[in-house]
Amino acid sequence: MPRIVFIQPDGQQVEVTASVGTSVMQAAVHNNVRGIDADCGGCCSCATCHIYVEDAFVARLPAPDGMEDEMLTGTAAERLPTSRLGCQISITDDMDGLTVRVPDRQV
Ligand code: FES
Repeated sequence: MPRIVFIQPDGQQVEVTASVGTSVMQAAVHNNVRGIDADCGGCCSCATCHIYVEDAFVARLPAPDGMEDEMLTGTAAERLPTSRLGCQISITDDMDGLTVRVPDRQV
């Protein structure tokens, strides 16, 4: 199973494994990763699964669709060019090692 690394705002790293076909948000929630609230459960309507994708992985992910892009305008923490919603990133085999930063707040 692909490994996903979450970096907390304090620099602590948490590495989890995730099933292909699940989302980065689900990988966080199922492994009790702090800072991913996911209030809407993954239906792209809350923006509390906001993450920053490390630069090396940005180009390897499909671009956000219109709905995700719109929701990213409402994140609590600053939106950056690497901002994504974890619930909208579906994990694939070639994402092994995907590294994302957790913002300092979701609300
Ligand atoms: Fe609500 Fe991702 S969990 S937008």
